[in-house]
Amino acid sequence: MREDGVGISEDTLDRLLEKLDLVQKVRLLSGATTWRTAGEQAVGLREMVTSDGPAGVRGEAWDERLTSALLPSASAIGALWDEDLVERLGGLLASEAVRKGVDVVLAPTLNLHRTPLGGRHFECFSEDPVLTGRTGAALIRGIQGAGVAATAKHYVANDSETGRMHVDVRVSERVLHEVYLAPFEAAVEAGVWLVMAGYNGVNGATMTASPLLAQPLKGDWGFDGVVVSDWGALRSAREPALAALDLAMPGPQGPWEASLVRAVRDGHVPEAAVDEKVRRLLRLAGRVGALEPGRRPRTAAYGPDDTRTLLRRTVAAGCVLLTNREVLPLDPGSLAKVAVIGVHAASPRVQGGGSAGVFPSRVVTPLDGIRARLDGLVEVVHVPGPGLGVPPAPLAADWCADPRSGEPGVLLRVLDEAGRELHAEHRFSGTQLEPPVGPEARTVEISALLRPPTTGEWTFGIAGFGRMSLTLGERTVLEGAFPCTTDDPAIVHVNPPLHTVRAALDTTRPVLLTARRELVPGAGRATIVAAAPPEPEAAAALAEAVRAARDADAVVVVVGTTEHTETEGHDRGGLSLGGHQDALVRAVAAVNRRTIAVVNSGGPVELPWRDEVGAALLTWFPGQEAGTGLADLLFGDAEPGGRLPTTWAAALTDAPVTHAQPDDGRLAYDEGVHIGHRAWLLTGREPAYWFGHGLGYTTWEYGTVRAPADVAEGSPFTVRVPVRNTGTRPGREVVQVYLARPDSTVERPVRWFAGYAAVHAEPGTSATAVVEIPARALRHWSRTEGAWRTEPGTFDIHVGRSAGDAAWSGAVEVRGAG
Ligand code: BGC
Repeated sequence: MREDGVGISEDTLDRLLEKLDLVQKVRLLSGATTWRTAGEQAVGLREMVTSDGPAGVRGEAWDERLTSALLPSASAIGALWDEDLVERLGGLLASEAVRKGVDVVLAPTLNLHRTPLGGRHFECFSEDPVLTGRTGAALIRGIQGAGVAATAKHYVANDSETGRMHVDVRVSERVLHEVYLAPFEAAVEAGVWLVMAGYNGVNGATMTASPLLAQPLKGDWGFDGVVVSDWGALRSAREPALAALDLAMPGPQGPWEASLVRAVRDGHVPEAAVDEKVRRLLRLAGRVGALEPGRRPRTAAYGPDDTRTLLRRTVAAGCVLLTNREVLPLDPGSLAKVAVIGVHAASPRVQGGGSAGVFPSRVVTPLDGIRARLDGLVEVVHVPGPGLGVPPAPLAADWCADPRSGEPGVLLRVLDEAGRELHAEHRFSGTQLEPPVGPEARTVEISALLRPPTTGEWTFGIAGFGRMSLTLGERTVLEGAFPCTTDDPAIVHVNPPLHTVRAALDTTRPVLLTARRELVPGAGRATIVAAAPPEPEAAAALAEAVRAARDADAVVVVVGTTEHTETEGHDRGGLSLGGHQDALVRAVAAVNRRTIAVVNSGGPVELPWRDEVGAALLTWFPGQEAGTGLADLLFGDAEPGGRLPTTWAAALTDAPVTHAQPDDGRLAYDEGVHIGHRAWLLTGREPAYWFGHGLGYTTWEYGTVRAPADVAEGSPFTVRVPVRNTGTRPGREVVQVYLARPDSTVERPVRWFAGYAAVHAEPGTSATAVVEIPARALRHWSRTEGAWRTEPGTFDIHVGRSAGDAAWSGAVEVRGAG
């Protein structure tokens, strides 16, 4: 009998377990490859394939030819406040997984935006545990509803990147339960099939050996799935085996296998602990169909057109209109010329950096999207403005050629010790993370014929570990040994540091660029070769942008962060947009009132010009449909639906919680329960934009709120909020409810987010938002009792459009049980 309609019964699991001896069982607990679990014929188990997540499903290979649908970043999905849409996006991820033969998607990331400097902010939904939990649960339902496993990661308190492999986060039990564990608890309630234990430690125990795996995860919450280690997070055999970790990834040659067999035989680890892990793994196999080798492969539910439609809609639904001085939407009929300004307009940042990266099937840039929408109607000019002053980007097919075939792209070769060619192939990108290297391979070589479009000082770069060289024609311009000094796999294998050099090129002379890296054990897989033309002189580029802005009826200036500022493995050094971008926005806004600043960043940035522009629109990292979705918003074909999932500071110095720098290996979460908007409320400071803020294209009037006068302890309650669309366009309003307990005997946030509901209404019509407030919103974690408790008495209810707005306030009396 199947217990949950998916998978195999517990009796069958018992029978399968009996067929395995200790060695066979232990073998199943480590990866067979980087992305695969081990199979076992004795029980008809095939290997299961895992893949990152969360912005798309890459599949087993880091290969630019194997493309994926690219969703907006998790921060954009956190901005949707729309669980139905999030669930559909989960369905799209599942469909991509099926298309790529993937059983387990390594998503969602449920860590929190604790500090705006978090390098992986873009990969997390929100600063708030409730919004993160609800969004994550919806994504999990969408993925798993299609029979593909989701993975809630990184359990727990892995909220920043500095020292992430070893940092020991110091956080109280109450704060853990109320803030950082809460989204994982919601994921378990949603039935997630895997939880990934992070690299970090919490309160002295590394997460792969943490008591938090047993309790509350597998104990109080009843998680019956697999706890998988983050890639390379397992450092010893015995403690994780005892501590309820189930699966060590990647493999082969993880720290388990022989040593775990020995530990069981020597009596240090009970065999029952191994059985319990294998049982969970087999349960997962049952759920994804890996115990039915003959099973007909499922078909992907989304074709390219459905994918584009859904992602385009998601861009519009997740973009946050921060400010609008009656400029948006633009009416194409009132425009003769639009200036599209900024480097990001033609080269947007569509995803964050690190293990989550995929090779998108296509990218519609903001410039392309605007051009397509205005084609034949309005003249569109593009001026990039000043360069971003960042290191060069990896070689791309559009301006270099394979020296052997002449095709756009590069030539990838693998050489043996004597320099003989073992393998050669044509590729599209200077980023090669998994060249086909056999045992005799000693060198990876990437070469390309460059036809420089610009004369001047070019910048070249090579990234990787080990001995590397870069030659231009016959001239070696960079050479050296670059030893690997980190154990962070995202840096070793995906994002090694770039070493740069400058050299003069001339448009009349094509040049052969050759990058070589020696392959030695421990030096990782990545070889990346990059080049960039000389940047235009900043003042002249700025002046050109201003001229174009003055000449146009409306300006869309696109600014953003780069892959050097927002990426896995590093926290950010600041919140400034960098380069001359602030000056650019200011200068064009000064000459054109109809200037729309489009912000292309995964996390908060300072917008010092926000009161000077006609409108500011935040697109996050919008994924492949960046331009189509943006054009829909700019010209009023869709309403910007996003609400901030995170409070944005006007300046980093205002932000109440910023520290991510471990002190002697420890990172103290001293702010306790006061993160995000709670911290802003506590300090009394005013951010640039509050959690929950976001404008649409219509206006709303709030009516009389109905909430119960009292509820019994432990009961949920409902808040009904009538709203009227007082504008001229249909719209969607996100009604938010916050609670407060000013006279509490326990320390609490000034106000905390308790729930939301969204309603649609046509102009002149009303709708009622029905906000369900779960009983948990009235509870606190009691340290002394080790349990959730409700403090009877009066809780204030605030209803509004953001954490900083309380359009209506009332109260509910919680009656004690006694
Ligand atoms: C990341 C995980 C990811 C894993 C596999 C790790 O470095 O922290 O989020 O799933 O690599 O790529």
